[in-house]
Amino acid sequence: MQKMVNEFSLAYTSSGQGAPVVLIHGYPLSRQIWAPQAAALADAAHILAPDLRGHGDSQAVPGPYSMDLFAADIKAFLEALGVAEQIVLGGLSMGGYVAFAFLRKYPHLVKGLILTATRAAADSEQAKAGREQTALLAREKGVQAVVQGMLPKMFAPTTLEGNPGLVMQIKDVMESTSLDGVIGDLAAMKERPDSTPELSGISIPTLIVHGAQDAIVPLAEAQAMQQAIPAATLQVIEGAGHLPNLENPGAYNQALRQFLARLDGKQP
Ligand code: MLT
Repeated sequence: MQKMVNEFSLAYTSSGQGAPVVLIHGYPLSRQIWAPQAAALADAAHILAPDLRGHGDSQAVPGPYSMDLFAADIKAFLEALGVAEQIVLGGLSMGGYVAFAFLRKYPHLVKGLILTATRAAADSEQAKAGREQTALLAREKGVQAVVQGMLPKMFAPTTLEGNPGLVMQIKDVMESTSLDGVIGDLAAMKERPDSTPELSGISIPTLIVHGAQDAIVPLAEAQAMQQAIPAATLQVIEGAGHLPNLENPGAYNQALRQFLARLDGKQP
C-alpha cells in the first residue's frame, strides 16, 4: 500500500486490528524486516510498518535526511491514515533513533516505546568519520559494496551458519535500498543528537529488546538505556545478533505480545 506524505509516496504494510503499533526499520533496510511481526501479532494489535523515504518501495527522494525529517514523515503518515489515538512506537537500530526524534517532537502521541537493537548515544568522532567513508564507498562503488561489508555483522554466528536463507533475504533487502537512501541515512545518523539526557524523562512504559550477540550495537548500550529509563524492561534474545526479530522471531514476538498485553491492562 502507498500514501502520499510530505511530497513523496510512502509504502507501508498494515495488518491486524486493535491499538496501533508503528514499527520503524533500520539502516539500510525496509519494512520487510517486520514480516514475522506483522503476521504473528495481527491478533494483538494493528501493526503499521512504513518504508522510510529512500527505502524499500517508498520513493527514493534525494537528501538531506535527518531523524527529525523521518519523524515528521511518520507523523504525516499517521495523519494520512487517520490514526487519531496514541500509538505504541517501535524502532530497530536507526529506527530507534527515529523513535527518539518522534518522542522529542510529538510526545503526546506515544503511549509505549519498543527499542530494539538500538542506542541512545550519538555517534563518536570515530563513528562519524566511518559514516563519511561509507558514504564515499556508496558513491564510488554503489550500495552493494556497502552491503558486502555490513552483512556479516548483522547476524549472530549461529544465524550466519544455520539460516543462510534469511541472510540472503536480508542481503536483497539491503541491496534494494536506493543510493539516496543510504547516503541520506548515513548523514542523518552522523548528525543525530545524543538522546541520553532525555532517557530519565521517559515516563511511558518501554520495552528494550536486544540480541545477545549484537555486533553492531553492543548489549551494554541496551543495559545502559534500561538503567536510565524509569519504566523500562530489557529482554535479551538468545541466538540473535542485530536482527533479533528475524533471528529468533518466537522469543521476540512473545516479548512484544507480553508488553502489549501489559499496556492494555490485560496482564499484571
Ligand atoms: C542500523 O542497523 O540501523 C544501523 O547500523 C545503526 C547504526 O549504524 O548506528
